[in-house]
Amino acid sequence: MLPEKTADVQFFTDRVHIRLITENDLELLRFWRNDETTRHFFFNSAIISNEQQIIWYNAYKRWNNDYQFIFSLRKNDELIPAGTFALYNIQGKVAEFGRALVVKQLRRKGIFFEACKCLFETAKKHFLIERVFLEVYSSNGRAIHVYQALGFIPSEPSESKIKMEKTL
Ligand SMILES: CC(C)(COP(=O)(O)OP(=O)(O)OC[C@H]1O[C@@H](n2cnc3c(N)ncnc32)[C@H](O)[C@@H]1OP(=O)(O)O)[C@@H](O)C(=O)NCCC(=O)NCCS
Repeated sequence: MLPEKTADVQFFTDRVHIRLITENDLELLRFWRNDETTRHFFFNSAIISNEQQIIWYNAYKRWNNDYQFIFSLRKNDELIPAGTFALYNIQGKVAEFGRALVVKQLRRKGIFFEACKCLFETAKKHFLIERVFLEVYSSNGRAIHVYQALGFIPSEPSESKIKMEKTL
């Protein structure tokens, strides 16, 4: 059975802390997601309004197979919000991975890589997920490179998007 979406769903490594998003994170998430240099990486790249974000969050709270996380860099006693990702559309032992981004100034530091590894280990152990898949624009070379480093294998290439999957 999948865990309830409570504050208890959190996990960490020496460098990274991962927890579920709360209502208090919505403006930060929206700010990251609407960034002009970032939003075109998402299939829905339109600017998200405050009202749309709240509607999405209220629906999200009801979805029991959709977990949006925020990961932070652990620095001394401080947690510095570094990015977000989701495991969603969970059907039995298979989950989709996505809605992922890293704050611009914290990219290319291996934080995302470490947070993903920790997420997938937890997904296997506590969510009993065995396979994860994602879709990414074929033009998003950086994301594809990182997904390959994480062990994702391209499965269904199409003209503009690539589907990739990973056995946990
Ligand atoms: C795609 C995105 C999330 C990647 O984030 P990132 O900060 O570049 O990721 P990381 O720094 O963790 O990348 C991992 C790097 O560490 C490497 N790495 C780190 N630790 C490693 C380890 N222990 N073993 C192997 N490789 C490791 C990876 O191979 C990769 O290599 P490189 O930088 O040497 O080329 C980020 O660029 C982003 O937010 N982009 C905009 C939004 C977006 O595209 N989202 C995805 C939509 S599908």
